[in-house]
Amino acid sequence: MNDKERVAQHAANRIQNGMIVGLGTGSTANCFIEALAHRHREEGLEIEAVASSVVSSIKARQHGLPILALEQLTRLDVYVDGADEVAPDLTLLKGRGQDLVREKILARASASFWVLIDPGKRVNRIGEKYPIPVEVVPFAWQLVRQSLEAIGGKAELRQNAAKDGLIVTSHGSLVLDAVFPESLDSATLDTLLNGIPGIVEHGIFSQLADVVFCAENGQVEEKRK
Ligand code: A5P
Repeated sequence: MNDKERVAQHAANRIQNGMIVGLGTGSTANCFIEALAHRHREEGLEIEAVASSVVSSIKARQHGLPILALEQLTRLDVYVDGADEVAPDLTLLKGRGQDLVREKILARASASFWVLIDPGKRVNRIGEKYPIPVEVVPFAWQLVRQSLEAIGGKAELRQNAAKDGLIVTSHGSLVLDAVFPESLDSATLDTLLNGIPGIVEHGIFSQLADVVFCAENGQVEEKRK
């Protein structure tokens, strides 16, 4: 078992009968889906799940997990997902994938949000390793980019891997990957981005994570807010 599988197993072991569980997106979330499905199948763990992306929904169904549509959700006991960066105050950067709208909705709706990482995800400052993903309404991208420049940012539209087209999110948005001066802290930036019309969502997850599980050398460390 590698560290990613270990942290996923650690989280899956904490899921209890009767819970509604939000499934994140990404390689760590995939390990969690597998570990949870194993408990559902082998131990008869009774849960329902809601997925943050089409890809996670397909994976969960393939592994036999009962899936609820987000539209049917009236409560969510726990949301479990990976992250791209985690700051000391448990602010996260997410959205290297293309599903951060659903991810943030589920993170906010959950009674408890568990984040699964390895030590390489820890940073001193959000934006240290990656640009901030900013999902924009397609027709507003140019105006949003100007608004980002007005607060000191530099942003480029995210291209596909072949660099012959633009990434379109599952929500139908374009993504601007934006870099900001270090002097702009993530809480300020979160507020500023929330106030720009045309931004559908962005990758700063402030005050949302309840616990971060970090796997390293066979051990799992928990950090709570
Ligand atoms: C998906 O949009 C992202 O927010 C992921 O949660 C993030 O990229 C973590 O993915 P890994 O677990 O693959 O590192």
